[in-house]
Amino acid sequence: MSNPSLLILPGDGIGPEVMAEVRRIIDWFGARRGLTFDVSEDLVGGAAYDRHGTPLHDDTMARAQAVDAVLLGAVGGPRYDGLDFSVKPERGLLRLRKEMDLFANLRPAQCFDALADFSSLKREVVAGLDIMIVRELTSGIYFGEPRGIFEEGGERVGINTQRYTEREIDRVARAAFDLARKRGGRVCSMEKANVMESGILWREVVQAVRDADYTDIELSHMYADAGAMQLCRWPKQFDVILTDNLFGDLLSDAAAMLTGSLGMLPSASLGAPMANGRPKALYEPVHGSAPDIAGQGKANPIACILSFAMALRYSFDEGAEADRLEAAVEQVLAEGLRTPDLLGEDGRGPVSTRGMADAILVALDASL
Ligand code: NAD
Ligand code: IPM
Ligand code: MN
Repeated sequence: MSNPSLLILPGDGIGPEVMAEVRRIIDWFGARRGLTFDVSEDLVGGAAYDRHGTPLHDDTMARAQAVDAVLLGAVGGPRYDGLDFSVKPERGLLRLRKEMDLFANLRPAQCFDALADFSSLKREVVAGLDIMIVRELTSGIYFGEPRGIFEEGGERVGINTQRYTEREIDRVARAAFDLARKRGGRVCSMEKANVMESGILWREVVQAVRDADYTDIELSHMYADAGAMQLCRWPKQFDVILTDNLFGDLLSDAAAMLTGSLGMLPSASLGAPMANGRPKALYEPVHGSAPDIAGQGKANPIACILSFAMALRYSFDEGAEADRLEAAVEQVLAEGLRTPDLLGEDGRGPVSTRGMADAILVALDASL
């Protein structure tokens, strides 16, 4: 059998910096665990625009469709702020998500014990936190029509449309219920059914899926604004949070800070199973290209490294190896290693992006 294939798209800003460290981790699994991937690399975002005049070349799109999994760093940056909307770096990422039909975005927020004091919330509120946000990723206001900037009555009007079909809600709800079955058995669905028709439909369909096929799951509904408040007040009340594309974007950044730093949070974007049974999949950190620290060796590589751990778990059925990698990360944090985003009183002093990965590789060696 041929090796599983991985397409790596480092992107912009700190994307290439953190991805260089992930490649060393991937190589470690090849050398020490016999887990060898056929790795190829390509351009996305501003890097692709600089080369091809488009943030995602058609050939890259075709390669992404053909591989077993895609690993992406980050896209965007101030250099590209003035570009026409259609060729902005972020459009490349959105095209990948849409054309691969990656409708279920899994964004876990776990608070490692060693970092409980880095959260903006009190230790007792976040210690032991382990929640999973399931964000719908291919529809809603990000993609709904009509959209654009139009002339109307002598002035311009900017329009975006929140739109969800029953089928789109049904399939992401099932993804959330399936995950909840392997976790705490609870799903809290968030929308604004009090002011949005799409929210009313969302609530109805999610409830119907639960009542038809997931009666073992405890389902609750919350307005997304109240959900944001509850996420700050007592996040441990949640197990799986199911929500739409835009609310999920906001809630997952908020959840990131509960865990200490945006530089810690991985994500998996999953679609339907391919012919080989693996889901269509793209893995990426939740953070962006961090232009303020790019090129300085300060970026925390953990979010991207943990995204590869999610690939091991969700694409390659290597849950035990994913556990091994996550345990190595937990160990170096417990030893006090900190990139600058995590620096507090207890750390041993800041380590660089490379230094953090070095320590994780040592911990991996020690795990054998
Ligand atoms: P950002 O996530 O890039 O940065 C927010 C803050 O978090 C910055 O202070 C940054 O230094 C810090 N940070 C982020 N990741 C870090 C890491 N790994 N280690 C240490 N610190 C880290 O968000 P932003 O500044 O709002 O956006 C910058 C650019 O990135 C924009 O062009 C935006 O569109 C893009 N973006 C891309 C993605 C993606 O590729 N998935 C996600 C979010 C934002
Ligand atoms: C994210 C980012 C993206 C989004 C942007 C870069 C398109 O913020 O992955 O959270 O809004 O989905
Ligand atoms: Mn975001």
